[in-house]
Amino acid sequence: MNAPESVVAEVPVITVDGPGGSGKGTITTRLANYLGWHFLDSGALYRLTALAVMKKHVPVDDEEALGETAGNLDICFDTSGDAVRAVLEGKDVTDDLRREDTGVMASRIAAIPAVRTALKERQRRFRQAPGLVADGRDMGTVIFPDARLKIFLTASAEVRAERRYKQLKEKGESVNLTRLFREIKARDKRDESRSVAPLRPAEDAVIIDSTGLSIEEVFNKVVSLV
Ligand code: C5P
Repeated sequence: MNAPESVVAEVPVITVDGPGGSGKGTITTRLANYLGWHFLDSGALYRLTALAVMKKHVPVDDEEALGETAGNLDICFDTSGDAVRAVLEGKDVTDDLRREDTGVMASRIAAIPAVRTALKERQRRFRQAPGLVADGRDMGTVIFPDARLKIFLTASAEVRAERRYKQLKEKGESVNLTRLFREIKARDKRDESRSVAPLRPAEDAVIIDSTGLSIEEVFNKVVSLV
């Protein structure tokens, strides 16, 4: 049985929003471990939807079909091992999830209102005791506007492209830094200019610019705020 809404609303939430490559993923995972709270990687839900769309060949201009795909996602997160594994329709897709083309498709379909509506409730269901750390673009503005602490983590596009470049290289993907930089700028533009839930800091968010800061320094700043 689900807890009543009033009880759920009392479960504390910390939101960390910002563009890709700002260090959100690392910071939020560490913070959730540090506090012993649940963790929501909302980008993974958009990426899983993107994978389902590509697998099923859903036309990207068919809003209704895209919304249906997002609403009927058959997914789970397997936490039994050391790292969380993402499972789509019974298949481990963790490695496909982080691919650059998956990110680009995720950003395209994330601009579709029916997709965002379909994923809204699914995201809110992650709010469970003792607390939730939520990572995304609209966690503080749309999904959890009553969050206790809202952080907006950003960094220059150059630094974010370099971080992504290193990450993808380590995974053995062949990448080009200039192309990555261009894609990051294009993704920022799409995320910031879409009509629903555009990427922007909540009015009550604390903004942290991680350009020139180490993960350790950012984490310490966040913990001091907590
Ligand atoms: O954070 P990540 O790079 O995994 O997100 C992939 C894409 O999903 C983003 O570029 C963004 O367009 C979309 N997204 C979103 N809202 C969120 C999380 C991700 O629109 N809360």
